[in-house]
Formats: sequence, structure tokens, C-alpha cells
Amino acid sequence: MVLSRLSFFLLSIFLLFVFYILAVPSPVLAKVIGECVNCHTMHNSQGGTPMPGVGNIPETGPFSALTRGTCVGCHSNTGSATIKTLGSSNIPVVFNTVPPATGTELAGGNFYWVVNSGESYGHNVLTIPGIVQDTKLSEAPGIPTQAQNGAPCDGCHSKIADCTSCHNPYHHGEDERPVVGVTQKGNAHKAVYYRYLANGSSHHSAGGVSGIEDSDWERTKSSSDHNEYKGGVLSTSGGHDADRSMSDYCGGCHQKFHDSSLVGTSSPWLRHPNNYALPAATNKEYRLYNTQDGTTIGPYSTEAPVARPVLSGYTGPSSTVTPGTDQVFCLSCHRPHGTPYKDILRWDYDGMIAGTTGTTARTGCFICHTSKDGV
Ligand code: HEC
Ligand code: HEC
Ligand code: HEC
Ligand code: HEC
Ligand code: HEC
Ligand code: HEC
Ligand code: HEC
Repeated sequence: MVLSRLSFFLLSIFLLFVFYILAVPSPVLAKVIGECVNCHTMHNSQGGTPMPGVGNIPETGPFSALTRGTCVGCHSNTGSATIKTLGSSNIPVVFNTVPPATGTELAGGNFYWVVNSGESYGHNVLTIPGIVQDTKLSEAPGIPTQAQNGAPCDGCHSKIADCTSCHNPYHHGEDERPVVGVTQKGNAHKAVYYRYLANGSSHHSAGGVSGIEDSDWERTKSSSDHNEYKGGVLSTSGGHDADRSMSDYCGGCHQKFHDSSLVGTSSPWLRHPNNYALPAATNKEYRLYNTQDGTTIGPYSTEAPVARPVLSGYTGPSSTVTPGTDQVFCLSCHRPHGTPYKDILRWDYDGMIAGTTGTTARTGCFICHTSKDGV
């Protein structure tokens, strides 16, 4: 009797536990998980021979922070999968040596196209096998004047020496959810920002981007399943406004493309605006963003996304786009890593033909410029 009461008790605990596991969605983990050995080696030696790297691109250690690979090694794949698993850890892949499986490219794009299509299809990260310095670009177009001094600035501002030119990684950092990088967690130069986007240089202040991170890095994507990007202000201070926006971050290296003295402050513009709200005015085309029927506004598009000037209040991705508030920004048209299109665009610029009724109508630029195609 006592025993069966005990087993009943244990059974209910067990059932409650099962119910808990099924009912509570597993939290999106902010930091790396898994056994240390998945990613680290203490002496780079086992049985007298060097530990194999975890990247399937051959590399010879030891590597800094005792990892079993470099940034490129860990984050690349000789197969077409864009997320690979390492024990219980998932690694987002940014460089596939074969074409990434169609439609599964992660939000940043893929360096596959820089290696295989050419230098203008992405940022030329010099540590990726097969990539050399861009022959046409000896510095970031629109570079801030102060950064034109050669060393110690040139490894980030004139060329992309490594992934750390753009990322300041903190894989064990605990970030806030749902909006990452609102406050600076950690010291200025080791803090958790959206996708570790901040400069790792001791030569200037840390910057840092905030945003909402999609849990599979947009491997699957739809109008309700995506990252949320932080917008901000039209830059008035030489590209650096501490608004934690993506455009401010890109503008840190491409300053002249985001400085209102060189871009303008209203239509007619001198350069394409960024961190500028889609006009809601009825005499303009933007109020019908991503329209599917030509008369009503459509949902958020992962092909030509918008940024939100204020992310507080967002608990996750939203499919609603609000003209008058939501903004065009650098990643409305570009991806940062690599794409199948020149100038790292999100679509083929050659297909953007005013008045078209063909397959490119309602795509690319036409997602915002809804009256410039022919449909
Ligand atoms: C899934 C991969 C992964 C796993 C698992 C992992 N680490 Fe790391 N760890 C990294 C990477 C990548 C770096 C280097 C880049 C960085 O600092 O973000 C790192 C850096 C570190 C650092 C130096 C930077 C810091 O944040 O303090 C320490 C210490 C560390 N790991 C300890 C551990 C220990 C202990 C374990 C096991 C309990 C572990 N790691 C498990 C990937 C991993
Ligand atoms: C030992 C393998 C390993 C190495 C080496 C490594 N990473 Fe990672 N990295 C990971 C894993 C695993 C994740 C996924 C963590 C998670 O789930 O958020 C990750 C995530 C990231 C992310 C996305 C963060 C996010 O919020 O989703 C960036 C950016 C990144 N790594 C950059 C780097 C850079 C730059 C380096 C080199 C300094 C590097 N990594 C080295 C394993 C590695
Ligand atoms: C020019 C700056 C830049 C360079 C160089 C760069 N990244 Fe990124 N990376 C970004 C940005 C911006 C994002 C966020 C993309 C988004 O969310 O749309 C990102 C996102 C990521 C992610 C998350 C997955 C994704 O696609 O969103 C990983 C992992 C990552 N980067 C790793 C790397 C590694 C490894 C390298 C070097 C081989 C590298 N990055 C080089 C700017 C850069
Ligand atoms: C750390 C500085 C740095 C950051 C941050 C940076 N870039 Fe760049 N960018 C460069 C450099 C250097 C080049 C020229 C060399 C090359 O192509 O790699 C370049 C080239 C480019 C090109 C031209 C590519 C070509 O080959 O024609 C585009 C487009 C671009 N960047 C867009 C962006 C966008 C969008 C962002 C923000 C997500 C960004 N960049 C962030 C440094 C940077
Ligand atoms: C490790 C890479 C790295 C190095 C080295 C580096 N920078 Fe930067 N820099 C960045 C990145 C990334 C940004 C954009 C993101 C941000 O604003 O933090 C940036 C932004 C800037 C900006 C515009 C934003 C601001 O803070 O005003 C200036 C100016 C600048 N850098 C100057 C320099 C100078 C001068 C040097 C050399 C003494 C230098 N940088 C070295 C990566 C680097
Ligand atoms: C995410 C939305 C978005 C996308 C995508 C977009 N634009 Fe724009 N574009 C805007 C906004 C907003 C303005 C400013 C409108 C205003 O001030 O009335 C603008 C302004 C312009 C202007 C200047 C108009 C003026 O009034 O001075 C031109 C030209 C232009 N865009 C061309 C393009 C081209 C070409 C593409 C594709 C490569 C493109 N845009 C993609 C939102 C977008
Ligand atoms: C409306 C779409 C759109 C937006 C928004 C946009 N770009 Fe571009 N970008 C383009 C197109 C199209 C090109 C091709 C060259 C051209 O038409 O000027 C280009 C080219 C570039 C180049 C290469 C220039 C060269 O000399 O080869 C860089 C760098 C660049 N963009 C950076 C940025 C940055 C940084 C931002 C945000 C501050 C940004 N872009 C926002 C559409 C856009």
C-alpha cells in the first residue's frame, strides 16, 4: 500500500515533468551550450597528436581561447547545410564551400558567393580560403576620414582582415531577451550586442547594435518569423549617433553614406536615405509597402525588411509594417556577408526595370517603390 502510494506520487511527479517539458517551449538560449570538449581543447593534444579541429575545413591549431578552430573553421561547412551540429551545440554557418541549400541561407547571407562569384558579391574576409583583397576597393567606400591613417585602423577600415573586423564575439555572454544589446552587459569592449556586432578596437568607443534575434538565424523565414532590426535617426554627427541602430553600425565604416550632410534630410535626396520612415502620405507609393493586391499594405518582407526606430515593447517578430514609423535602412537592400548579387544586394539590380510587369514586379526595390513597376 505504502509502496504503491509512493509509486503513484512518483508517477504524478513524472507526468507533471513530462507535461512541463511539452508545455513550456524550450527557451531560446542566449549563449553557447554543450560540453566544453565540443569547442575547446586544453593542450591541443590527445594521444600525442594534435586535436582535430571542429570545422570540416582543415586547420592546424592551437587557436586562441583554446578553441578547436578559428571563426572561419567553426562557422563553415563543406556540405550545403547552413546550421551544423556539434554534440548538443548548433553552429550557424556563414561559409559553405558548396552552394548553400536554396532558401536556407542565414540572414547575413553566405561567403560562398564571394569565393565563387567574385569580390563584389560580399565583404572580402581575408581569412576565408580563396578570398583576397578587393582589387577595386582599397578602403571601405565612404570611410570616415579619421580611419584613413593606415595601421592600426586598416585591418578593419581598409580591408576586412578577419571576422573580428566586424564582430566582437562573446559566446559565453548572457544577453537580455527579447531585445539584445539595449544596455551594455559586460565591459565596453566585451559586451553582448545583437549578433556580437560592435567593434573590438581599443582605438575608439565600442558602439554596438541592438535587435531581436531569430532563433534559427532566419534559416526558416516568413513575415512572422524573422529578426527585428533597430532603426534610429538620420545621422547628423558623422555617422555615429549611439542609437544602437544597424545603419549606424554600417555607417561607422561607410560613414559618408549615412551622414545627413552628404545624404540630405528630405526628398529630393542626394544619396538613398537610411533610418528614414516610409512616408505614410497618400500621394506617395510607400504606404502600400509589400502590397500583394495593389490597394492594401502587405506584411513584413524578409526580402526588403524595415527597421523599427523603437524596439522596446516588441516581444518578438511582428508581421505588421507601419508607414510613418518603420524605416528603410542598410539591410533593406544589402546583406553583410555575401549574396548571389553584385554589391551584396538582396536581389538582382538588373531586374529592377521601371514599368515592368514581368517576374520582378513587386520584388526588390518595388516592395517599397510600389508605383514604379507596371502592376
Ligand atoms: C559550442 C561551443 C563552445 C562550448 C560548448 C564552450 N565554449 Fe568556451 N568559448 C567558445 C568560443 C567560440 C570562445 C572564443 C570566442 C569568445 O570569447 O566568444 C570561447 C571562449 C571561452 C573562454 C574565454 C572567454 C570568456 O568568455 O571567458 C572561456 C574561459 C571558456 N570559453 C570556457 C568554457 C568552458 C569552461 C566550457 C565548458 C563548460 C566552454 N567554454 C564551452 C565556444 C564554446
Ligand atoms: C568552437 C567553435 C566556434 C568558434 C571557434 C567560433 N564560434 Fe561563433 N558560434 C559558435 C556557436 C556554437 C554559435 C551559436 C551560439 C548560439 O546558439 O547563440 C556561435 C555563434 C556566433 C555568432 C552569432 C551570435 C548570435 O547571437 O546568434 C557570431 C556572430 C559568431 N559566432 C562569430 C564568431 C567569430 C567572429 C568567431 C571568431 C573570433 C567565432 N564565432 C568563433 C561556435 C564557434
Ligand atoms: C562587414 C561586417 C561583417 C563581417 C566581415 C562578418 N560579419 Fe557576421 N554578421 C554581420 C552582420 C551585420 C550580421 C547580422 C545579419 C542580420 O541579422 O541580418 C552578421 C551575422 C552573423 C552570424 C549570425 C548568422 C546570420 O547570418 O545572421 C554569424 C554566425 C556571423 N555573422 C559570423 C561571422 C563570421 C564567422 C565571419 C567571418 C567569416 C563574419 N561573420 C564576418 C556583419 C559581418
Ligand atoms: C569594419 C568596417 C566595416 C563594416 C562594419 C561594414 N563594412 Fe562594408 N566594407 C568595408 C570594407 C573595408 C569594404 C571594401 C573591401 C571589401 O569589399 O571587403 C566594404 C565594402 C562594402 C560593400 C561593397 C562590396 C563590393 O565588393 O562591392 C558594400 C555593399 C558594403 N560594404 C556594405 C556594408 C553594409 C550594409 C554594412 C553593415 C551591415 C557594412 N558594409 C559594414 C568595411 C566595413
Ligand atoms: C577591430 C576593428 C577596428 C579597428 C582596428 C578600428 N576600427 Fe574604427 N570601427 C570599427 C567598426 C566595426 C566600426 C562601426 C561600429 C561602431 O561604430 O562601433 C567602427 C567605427 C569607426 C568610426 C565611426 C564611429 C565613431 O566612433 O565615430 C570611426 C571614426 C573609426 N571607427 C575610426 C577608427 C580609427 C581612427 C581607428 C584606428 C586608430 C580605428 N577606427 C580602428 C572597427 C575598427
Ligand atoms: C524598405 C523600403 C525601400 C526600399 C527597399 C527601397 N527604397 Fe528607395 N526610398 C525609400 C524611402 C522611404 C525613400 C524616401 C522617400 C521620401 O523621402 O519621400 C526612398 C527614396 C528613394 C529615391 C529618392 C526619391 C527622392 O524623393 O529623392 C530613389 C531614387 C530610390 N529610393 C530608389 C530606390 C531603388 C533603386 C531601390 C532598390 C535598389 C530602392 N529605392 C529601394 C524606401 C525604400
Ligand atoms: C535602397 C537600397 C539601398 C540601401 C538602403 C543601401 N544601399 Fe548600398 N547600395 C545599393 C545599390 C543599388 C548599390 C549599387 C551602387 C549604386 O547604385 O550606387 C549599393 C552600393 C553600396 C556600396 C558599394 C559602393 C562602391 O563604391 O562600390 C556600399 C559600400 C554600400 N552600398 C553601403 C551601404 C550602407 C553602409 C548603407 C546604409 C547606410 C546602404 N548601402 C544602404 C542599395 C542600397
